Amino acid sequence: MNVPFYGHVRQYKKLKKQIDRNIKEVIESGNYVMGPMLTRFEKELAEYSGTKYAIGVGNGTDAIWLTLMALGIGAGDECITTTNTFFATAEAIWIAGAKAVFVDCDPDTYCIDPAKIEAAITPKTKAIIPVHLYGHCADMKAISKIAKKHKLFVIEDNAQSIDASGDGFKEGELSDAVCTSFIIQKNLGTFGDGGAIVTNNKDIDTIVRRLRNHGSPKRSCHSFGFNSRLDDIHAGILSAKLEKITAFSDARRKLAARYTKALKNTSFKLPVEKPGYRHVYHLYVIATKPELRDKCLDFLVKNGIDAKQHYPIAIHQQEGYPWGKGARIVGGVKNCEINAATCISLPMFPELTKEEVDYVIEKVVEWDNKNK
Ligand SMILES: Cc1ncc(COP(=O)(O)O)c(C=O)c1O
Repeated sequence: MNVPFYGHVRQYKKLKKQIDRNIKEVIESGNYVMGPMLTRFEKELAEYSGTKYAIGVGNGTDAIWLTLMALGIGAGDECITTTNTFFATAEAIWIAGAKAVFVDCDPDTYCIDPAKIEAAITPKTKAIIPVHLYGHCADMKAISKIAKKHKLFVIEDNAQSIDASGDGFKEGELSDAVCTSFIIQKNLGTFGDGGAIVTNNKDIDTIVRRLRNHGSPKRSCHSFGFNSRLDDIHAGILSAKLEKITAFSDARRKLAARYTKALKNTSFKLPVEKPGYRHVYHLYVIATKPELRDKCLDFLVKNGIDAKQHYPIAIHQQEGYPWGKGARIVGGVKNCEINAATCISLPMFPELTKEEVDYVIEKVVEWDNKNK
Protein backbone atom coordinates (compact mmCIF):
# COMPACT_ATOMS: atom_id res chain seq x y z
CA MET A 1 0.00 0.00 0.00
CA ASN A 2 1.15 3.56 -0.67
CA VAL A 3 0.28 6.16 1.96
CA PRO A 4 0.76 9.77 0.90
CA PHE A 5 1.83 12.56 3.24
CA TYR A 6 -0.67 15.10 1.91
CA GLY A 7 -4.33 14.87 0.90
CA HIS A 8 -4.92 18.14 -0.95
CA VAL A 9 -6.64 16.62 -3.94
CA ARG A 10 -8.81 14.36 -1.76
CA GLN A 11 -9.90 17.42 0.20
CA TYR A 12 -10.63 19.33 -2.99
CA LYS A 13 -12.83 16.50 -4.27
CA LYS A 14 -14.84 16.56 -1.02
CA LEU A 15 -15.35 20.33 -1.09
CA LYS A 16 -15.40 20.75 -4.88
CA LYS A 17 -18.88 22.25 -5.00
CA GLN A 18 -18.22 25.05 -2.50
CA ILE A 19 -14.68 25.74 -3.73
CA ASP A 20 -15.67 25.82 -7.42
CA ARG A 21 -18.66 28.04 -6.61
CA ASN A 22 -16.41 30.60 -4.87
CA ILE A 23 -13.72 30.54 -7.57
CA LYS A 24 -16.39 31.05 -10.24
CA GLU A 25 -17.88 33.91 -8.26
CA VAL A 26 -14.47 35.65 -8.16
CA ILE A 27 -13.73 35.10 -11.84
CA GLU A 28 -17.15 36.29 -12.94
CA SER A 29 -17.00 39.34 -10.65
CA GLY A 30 -13.98 40.73 -12.48
CA ASN A 31 -12.39 41.64 -9.08
CA TYR A 32 -9.30 39.58 -8.41
CA VAL A 33 -7.13 41.73 -6.14
CA MET A 34 -8.43 43.44 -2.97
CA GLY A 35 -11.97 42.64 -4.10
CA PRO A 36 -15.16 41.67 -2.26
CA MET A 37 -14.15 38.02 -1.77
CA LEU A 38 -11.07 39.12 0.18
CA THR A 39 -13.23 41.43 2.30
CA ARG A 40 -15.68 38.59 2.92
CA PHE A 41 -12.97 36.13 3.91
CA GLU A 42 -11.29 38.66 6.22
CA LYS A 43 -14.62 39.22 7.96
CA GLU A 44 -15.20 35.47 8.30
CA LEU A 45 -11.68 34.90 9.61
CA ALA A 46 -11.99 37.68 12.20
CA GLU A 47 -15.34 36.27 13.33
CA TYR A 48 -13.94 32.76 13.51
CA SER A 49 -10.87 33.98 15.45
CA GLY A 50 -12.87 36.17 17.80
CA THR A 51 -10.70 39.17 16.94
CA LYS A 52 -11.64 42.62 15.71
CA TYR A 53 -9.45 42.45 12.61
CA ALA A 54 -8.13 39.96 10.07
CA ILE A 55 -5.79 41.06 7.28
CA GLY A 56 -4.99 38.78 4.36
CA VAL A 57 -1.40 38.92 3.09
CA GLY A 58 0.75 37.08 0.56
CA ASN A 59 2.06 34.33 2.86
CA GLY A 60 2.79 33.42 6.47
CA THR A 61 6.33 34.78 6.45
CA ASP A 62 5.10 38.20 5.34
CA ALA A 63 2.42 38.06 8.05
CA ILE A 64 5.18 37.94 10.69
CA TRP A 65 7.52 40.60 9.34
CA LEU A 66 4.69 42.96 8.36
CA THR A 67 3.41 42.69 11.94
CA LEU A 68 6.90 43.37 13.32
CA MET A 69 7.19 46.39 11.05
CA ALA A 70 3.73 47.63 12.05
CA LEU A 71 4.84 47.47 15.69
CA GLY A 72 7.94 49.51 14.86
CA ILE A 73 10.29 46.59 15.46
CA GLY A 74 13.41 46.66 13.29
CA ALA A 75 17.11 47.57 13.33
CA GLY A 76 18.66 47.41 16.80
CA ASP A 77 15.77 45.37 18.25
CA GLU A 78 15.69 41.75 19.36
CA CYS A 79 12.93 39.13 19.19
CA ILE A 80 13.00 35.92 21.19
CA THR A 81 11.98 32.63 19.59
CA THR A 82 13.24 29.06 19.40
CA THR A 83 15.34 27.24 16.79
CA ASN A 84 12.93 24.32 16.58
CA THR A 85 10.63 25.79 13.97
CA PHE A 86 10.33 26.22 10.25
CA PHE A 87 13.03 28.59 8.96
CA ALA A 88 10.47 31.32 8.14
CA THR A 89 9.91 32.36 11.77
CA ALA A 90 13.52 33.49 12.12
CA GLU A 91 13.71 34.65 8.52
CA ALA A 92 10.83 37.08 9.16
CA ILE A 93 12.68 38.61 12.13
CA TRP A 94 15.73 39.04 9.92
CA ILE A 95 13.68 40.58 7.07
CA ALA A 96 12.24 43.13 9.51
CA GLY A 97 15.84 44.11 10.32
CA ALA A 98 15.75 42.85 13.92
CA LYS A 99 17.86 40.12 15.52
CA ALA A 100 16.58 36.71 16.53
CA VAL A 101 17.57 35.52 19.99
CA PHE A 102 16.98 31.80 20.30
CA VAL A 103 16.14 29.77 23.38
CA ASP A 104 15.39 26.09 23.83
CA CYS A 105 12.07 24.33 23.30
CA ASP A 106 10.02 22.26 25.71
CA PRO A 107 10.96 18.57 25.28
CA ASP A 108 7.32 17.43 25.24
CA THR A 109 5.43 20.01 23.18
CA TYR A 110 8.48 21.16 21.14
CA CYS A 111 7.24 24.76 21.53
CA ILE A 112 9.36 27.51 23.10
CA ASP A 113 10.13 26.79 26.77
CA PRO A 114 8.84 29.79 28.77
CA ALA A 115 11.30 29.02 31.57
CA LYS A 116 14.16 29.88 29.20
CA ILE A 117 12.83 33.24 28.02
CA GLU A 118 13.69 35.65 30.83
CA ALA A 119 17.42 34.91 30.65
CA ALA A 120 17.37 36.09 27.01
CA ILE A 121 15.69 39.45 27.67
CA THR A 122 17.86 42.55 27.26
CA PRO A 123 16.99 46.25 26.94
CA LYS A 124 16.87 45.61 23.16
CA THR A 125 14.19 42.90 23.40
CA LYS A 126 10.91 43.99 21.85
CA ALA A 127 8.94 40.83 21.22
CA ILE A 128 8.51 37.15 21.96
CA ILE A 129 7.45 35.02 18.99
CA PRO A 130 6.12 31.65 20.18
CA VAL A 131 5.46 29.08 17.46
CA HIS A 132 2.58 26.68 18.07
CA LEU A 133 4.53 23.85 16.55
CA TYR A 134 2.96 20.78 14.94
CA GLY A 135 -0.51 21.98 16.05
CA HIS A 136 0.07 22.28 19.82
CA CYS A 137 -0.08 25.72 21.43
CA ALA A 138 2.87 27.07 23.33
CA ASP A 139 2.25 27.92 26.97
CA MET A 140 0.71 31.33 26.26
CA LYS A 141 -0.24 32.01 29.88
CA ALA A 142 3.39 31.81 31.02
CA ILE A 143 4.61 33.70 27.94
CA SER A 144 2.13 36.53 28.31
CA LYS A 145 3.02 36.88 32.01
CA ILE A 146 6.68 37.36 31.11
CA ALA A 147 5.77 39.75 28.28
CA LYS A 148 3.63 41.90 30.58
CA LYS A 149 6.35 42.03 33.23
CA HIS A 150 8.97 43.20 30.70
CA LYS A 151 6.59 45.21 28.48
CA LEU A 152 7.17 43.10 25.39
CA PHE A 153 4.95 42.38 22.42
CA VAL A 154 3.85 38.79 21.78
CA ILE A 155 3.31 37.66 18.20
CA GLU A 156 1.98 34.13 17.83
CA ASP A 157 3.16 32.11 14.84
CA ASN A 158 0.21 29.77 14.34
CA ALA A 159 1.08 28.76 10.77
CA GLN A 160 0.72 25.13 11.94
CA SER A 161 -2.04 25.46 14.46
CA ILE A 162 -5.17 27.26 13.33
CA ASP A 163 -8.07 25.94 15.47
CA ALA A 164 -5.80 24.83 18.33
CA SER A 165 -6.30 26.17 21.83
CA GLY A 166 -4.66 25.98 25.22
CA ASP A 167 -5.56 25.44 28.82
CA GLY A 168 -8.13 28.23 29.20
CA PHE A 169 -6.95 30.34 26.29
CA LYS A 170 -7.65 30.72 22.59
CA GLU A 171 -5.07 31.81 20.05
CA GLY A 172 -5.10 35.62 19.89
CA GLU A 173 -6.36 36.16 23.43
CA LEU A 174 -2.97 36.53 25.09
CA SER A 175 -0.96 38.24 22.37
CA ASP A 176 -0.80 41.32 20.17
CA ALA A 177 -1.28 39.43 16.92
CA VAL A 178 -1.51 35.95 15.45
CA CYS A 179 0.24 35.25 12.15
CA THR A 180 -0.80 32.37 9.99
CA SER A 181 0.07 30.68 6.71
CA PHE A 182 -2.34 29.27 4.15
CA ILE A 183 0.21 27.47 1.98
CA ILE A 184 -1.48 24.33 0.72
CA GLN A 185 -0.07 21.89 3.29
CA LYS A 186 -1.34 23.88 6.28
CA ASN A 187 -4.46 22.83 8.21
CA LEU A 188 -6.28 25.63 6.39
CA GLY A 189 -4.55 25.69 3.02
CA THR A 190 -5.23 27.26 -0.35
CA PHE A 191 -4.04 26.03 -3.74
CA GLY A 192 -0.90 28.14 -3.58
CA ASP A 193 0.40 30.72 -1.12
CA GLY A 194 -1.45 32.90 1.36
CA GLY A 195 -1.26 34.24 4.88
CA ALA A 196 -3.09 36.42 7.39
CA ILE A 197 -2.79 38.32 10.63
CA VAL A 198 -5.60 38.38 13.17
CA THR A 199 -5.45 41.00 15.90
CA ASN A 200 -7.40 43.30 18.19
CA ASN A 201 -4.84 46.06 17.69
CA LYS A 202 -6.24 48.78 15.42
CA ASP A 203 -2.77 50.18 14.62
CA ILE A 204 -1.53 46.79 13.38
CA ASP A 205 -4.63 46.53 11.20
CA THR A 206 -4.26 50.02 9.74
CA ILE A 207 -0.51 49.84 9.17
CA VAL A 208 -0.41 46.31 7.73
CA ARG A 209 -3.29 47.15 5.36
CA ARG A 210 -1.20 50.02 4.08
CA LEU A 211 2.13 48.17 3.99
CA ARG A 212 0.70 45.17 2.09
CA ASN A 213 -0.57 47.41 -0.71
CA HIS A 214 2.32 49.69 -1.72
CA GLY A 215 1.81 51.93 1.31
CA SER A 216 -1.53 52.96 -0.11
CA PRO A 217 -4.32 53.94 2.29
CA LYS A 218 -6.48 54.97 -0.68
CA ARG A 219 -6.28 54.97 -4.45
CA SER A 220 -3.28 56.86 -5.91
CA CYS A 221 -1.83 57.82 -2.47
CA HIS A 222 1.35 55.97 -1.49
CA SER A 223 4.02 55.83 1.20
CA PHE A 224 6.60 53.19 2.13
CA GLY A 225 5.16 49.75 1.42
CA PHE A 226 5.30 46.44 -0.40
CA ASN A 227 3.11 44.13 -2.43
CA SER A 228 1.86 41.31 -0.21
CA ARG A 229 -1.85 40.75 -0.81
CA LEU A 230 -4.02 37.68 -0.49
CA ASP A 231 -5.62 37.23 -3.93
CA ASP A 232 -9.40 36.94 -4.09
CA ILE A 233 -9.30 33.47 -5.64
CA HIS A 234 -7.35 32.22 -2.63
CA ALA A 235 -9.73 34.07 -0.31
CA GLY A 236 -12.63 32.24 -1.98
CA ILE A 237 -10.95 28.83 -1.60
CA LEU A 238 -10.15 29.60 2.03
CA SER A 239 -13.66 30.85 2.72
CA ALA A 240 -15.06 27.49 1.54
CA LYS A 241 -12.56 25.60 3.69
CA LEU A 242 -12.84 27.79 6.81
CA GLU A 243 -16.41 26.52 7.29
CA LYS A 244 -14.94 23.06 7.76
CA ILE A 245 -11.89 23.84 9.88
CA THR A 246 -13.29 22.36 13.10
CA ALA A 247 -14.31 19.18 11.28
CA PHE A 248 -10.81 18.99 9.71
CA SER A 249 -9.19 19.30 13.13
CA ASP A 250 -11.53 16.75 14.67
CA ALA A 251 -10.67 14.28 11.92
CA ARG A 252 -6.96 14.85 12.54
CA ARG A 253 -7.48 14.36 16.27
CA LYS A 254 -9.28 11.06 15.70
CA LEU A 255 -6.51 9.75 13.46
CA ALA A 256 -3.90 10.91 15.98
CA ALA A 257 -5.75 9.05 18.75
CA ARG A 258 -5.66 5.91 16.58
CA TYR A 259 -1.87 6.25 16.10
CA THR A 260 -1.32 6.98 19.79
CA LYS A 261 -3.42 4.04 21.03
CA ALA A 262 -1.65 1.59 18.74
CA LEU A 263 1.90 2.90 19.24
CA LYS A 264 1.87 3.56 22.96
CA ASN A 265 3.73 0.35 23.79
CA THR A 266 6.48 0.88 21.22
CA SER A 267 9.85 2.46 21.98
CA PHE A 268 8.93 5.64 20.07
CA LYS A 269 8.32 8.91 21.87
CA LEU A 270 4.80 9.99 20.86
CA PRO A 271 3.23 13.47 20.62
CA VAL A 272 2.06 14.95 23.90
CA GLU A 273 -1.20 16.83 24.36
CA LYS A 274 -0.98 18.83 27.56
CA PRO A 275 -4.09 18.69 29.80
CA GLY A 276 -6.71 21.20 28.69
CA TYR A 277 -5.04 21.80 25.30
CA ARG A 278 -6.56 21.06 21.90
CA HIS A 279 -3.78 19.70 19.67
CA VAL A 280 -4.76 19.96 16.00
CA TYR A 281 -2.03 17.62 14.73
CA HIS A 282 -0.77 19.58 11.78
CA LEU A 283 1.92 16.94 12.06
CA TYR A 284 2.05 13.67 13.97
CA VAL A 285 5.70 13.55 15.00
CA ILE A 286 7.26 10.56 16.72
CA ALA A 287 10.85 10.32 17.90
CA THR A 288 13.37 7.50 18.00
CA LYS A 289 17.06 7.12 18.82
CA PRO A 290 19.26 9.36 16.65
CA GLU A 291 21.20 6.36 15.30
CA LEU A 292 17.95 4.72 14.16
CA ARG A 293 16.05 7.70 12.76
CA ASP A 294 17.25 7.67 9.14
CA LYS A 295 17.09 3.88 8.94
CA CYS A 296 13.52 3.88 10.26
CA LEU A 297 12.51 6.59 7.83
CA ASP A 298 14.10 4.64 5.01
CA PHE A 299 12.19 1.50 6.06
CA LEU A 300 8.87 3.37 6.06
CA VAL A 301 9.53 5.01 2.69
CA LYS A 302 10.57 1.66 1.15
CA ASN A 303 7.25 0.28 2.37
CA GLY A 304 5.30 2.95 0.52
CA ILE A 305 4.78 5.31 3.47
CA ASP A 306 5.62 8.90 2.69
CA ALA A 307 7.04 9.74 6.13
CA LYS A 308 9.06 12.94 6.52
CA GLN A 309 11.05 14.95 9.10
CA HIS A 310 10.14 18.27 10.69
CA TYR A 311 12.73 19.64 11.02
CA PRO A 312 15.96 17.65 10.63
CA ILE A 313 18.12 20.81 10.59
CA ALA A 314 17.18 23.28 13.33
CA ILE A 315 17.54 26.94 12.45
CA HIS A 316 20.84 27.40 14.29
CA GLN A 317 22.23 24.40 12.39
CA GLN A 318 21.38 25.91 9.00
CA GLU A 319 24.58 26.91 7.26
CA GLY A 320 22.76 29.73 5.53
CA TYR A 321 21.25 31.39 8.60
CA PRO A 322 22.19 35.08 8.48
CA TRP A 323 23.39 35.51 12.09
CA GLY A 324 24.88 39.00 11.70
CA LYS A 325 25.75 40.96 14.81
CA GLY A 326 23.42 40.32 17.72
CA ALA A 327 21.56 37.16 16.70
CA ARG A 328 22.46 34.49 19.23
CA ILE A 329 21.45 31.49 21.30
CA VAL A 330 20.88 31.93 25.02
CA GLY A 331 21.10 29.02 27.44
CA GLY A 332 21.67 26.31 24.81
CA VAL A 333 19.15 24.59 22.56
CA LYS A 334 19.70 20.95 23.52
CA ASN A 335 16.04 19.94 23.11
CA CYS A 336 15.88 21.53 19.65
CA GLU A 337 18.94 19.52 18.66
CA ILE A 338 17.51 16.29 20.04
CA ASN A 339 14.29 16.85 18.12
CA ALA A 340 16.17 17.58 14.88
CA ALA A 341 18.09 14.31 15.26
CA THR A 342 15.19 12.07 16.26
CA CYS A 343 11.94 13.30 14.64
CA ILE A 344 9.83 11.38 12.13
CA SER A 345 6.51 12.74 10.84
CA LEU A 346 3.94 10.11 9.97
CA PRO A 347 1.25 10.83 7.35
CA MET A 348 -1.46 13.04 8.86
CA PHE A 349 -4.28 14.80 7.07
CA PRO A 350 -8.07 14.74 7.60
CA GLU A 351 -8.83 12.56 4.58
CA LEU A 352 -6.38 9.80 5.53
CA THR A 353 -8.32 6.52 5.81
CA LYS A 354 -8.35 4.20 8.81
CA GLU A 355 -6.89 1.48 6.56
CA GLU A 356 -3.97 3.75 5.66
CA VAL A 357 -3.35 4.64 9.30
CA ASP A 358 -3.51 0.96 10.26
CA TYR A 359 -0.97 0.13 7.55
CA VAL A 360 1.38 2.84 8.86
CA ILE A 361 0.92 1.49 12.40
CA GLU A 362 1.64 -2.07 11.20
CA LYS A 363 4.92 -0.97 9.61
CA VAL A 364 6.01 1.21 12.55
CA VAL A 365 5.35 -1.67 14.95
CA GLU A 366 7.16 -4.12 12.63
CA TRP A 367 10.19 -1.82 12.60
CA ASP A 368 10.05 -1.39 16.37
CA ASN A 369 9.89 -5.13 17.05
CA LYS A 370 13.02 -5.66 14.98
CA ASN A 371 14.96 -2.72 16.40
CA LYS A 372 13.99 -2.39 20.07
C1 LIG B 1 5.91 27.68 11.80
C2 LIG B 1 5.85 28.38 10.48
N1 LIG B 1 6.03 29.71 10.43
C3 LIG B 1 5.95 30.39 9.28
C4 LIG B 1 5.70 29.75 8.09
C5 LIG B 1 5.74 30.55 6.84
O1 LIG B 1 4.62 30.47 6.08
P1 LIG B 1 4.70 30.70 4.47
O2 LIG B 1 5.33 29.51 3.88
O3 LIG B 1 3.28 30.87 4.10
O4 LIG B 1 5.50 31.94 4.26
C6 LIG B 1 5.51 28.36 8.08
C7 LIG B 1 5.18 27.56 6.88
O5 LIG B 1 5.47 27.54 5.82
C8 LIG B 1 5.60 27.65 9.31
O6 LIG B 1 5.43 26.33 9.36
